[in-house]
Amino acid sequence: MKITITRTQTPKQKPDQNALGFGRYFTDHMFMMNYTEGIGWHDARIVPFGDISLSPACMVFHYAQEMFEGLKAYKTEDGRILLFRPEKNIERMNSTNKRLCVPQVNPDDILQAIIETVKIDSDWIPTLPGTSLYIRPFIIATDPALGVHPSKTYLFMIILSPVGAYYAAGLNPVDICVEDEYVRAVRGGMGFAKVGANYAASLIGQQKAEEKGYAQVLWLDGIEHKYVDEVGSMNVFFVIDGEVITPSLDEGNILPGVTRASAIELLRAYGYKVTERKISIQEVYDAAESGKLQEVFGTGTAAVVSPVGKLDWDGRIIVINEGKIGKISQFLYDQITGIQFGRIKDEFGWTREVK
Ligand code: COI
Repeated sequence: MKITITRTQTPKQKPDQNALGFGRYFTDHMFMMNYTEGIGWHDARIVPFGDISLSPACMVFHYAQEMFEGLKAYKTEDGRILLFRPEKNIERMNSTNKRLCVPQVNPDDILQAIIETVKIDSDWIPTLPGTSLYIRPFIIATDPALGVHPSKTYLFMIILSPVGAYYAAGLNPVDICVEDEYVRAVRGGMGFAKVGANYAASLIGQQKAEEKGYAQVLWLDGIEHKYVDEVGSMNVFFVIDGEVITPSLDEGNILPGVTRASAIELLRAYGYKVTERKISIQEVYDAAESGKLQEVFGTGTAAVVSPVGKLDWDGRIIVINEGKIGKISQFLYDQITGIQFGRIKDEFGWTREVK
């Protein structure tokens, strides 16, 4: 794919790496590409980061035909730049697109777009431990029309943000509130797809949780409010009596996380028993009651591996592993970040160097 490049004439000052937070700063450039029915994706370009102009009638503003992805670029100690399993994000992008009636993208073109955009802003990749460059590809429907139909035109963009830890707590355990009133996804819905609308649906639960002093929400299934789905920004795992259990993807309610898949593969490779199945919140509480709940942790691109210290289900509070980081959470964090930052040999072939 041919990508035209317009470099910024006014590079910005880079933020303090000690105070990045998550998704608050953006680099000097961004990638853009349009889709027009009958033509396909066209006009791939890297331009200075800046505002875009759209008709207020654009479909994305009215019917939420929008999807996004999230992955990261890491700077290794010897100065190389690594991406972590970008092909998995691109594969998920097309699965989301299918559900959302957005045209498919060419995986090779998207990988090229990611690589070229990261390359042009590579001096924005932070180097302090725990920091990286978050890559946010997304697509919006741009037809200026109010009829409820799939758009015939789209805009694909990639923006980049130097980030630190997603949670203020970093690798320290986060406290999570189980949501049993609102739901995030139902069978046949869009739970498995990475669409902004899912996150919009989650905001009210998130707000409730934050008001009660919790960092995130644990979502239960949309039908019986009984089975665990996922946490707001990550997939969730439970360690019960030595077995690692995570909700299965079968019902289509759960985001098929790249870090989730990697955690499962890694744990199995190291001989852990990992089971993907339905798990009810009652089972989790029963395991806590009988002393068999050893760890709870979440996985995600933004969150990496995040131990859960406390769960609150309708006022019933359980403290997990005395609120400390568990052995398996620490092992996974060390392994996954070790591979991502090139500190550990990548036996799985998961990283891709940006050159
Ligand atoms: C990610 O982990 O990349 C996410 O997209 C989660 C959240 C920031 C929306």
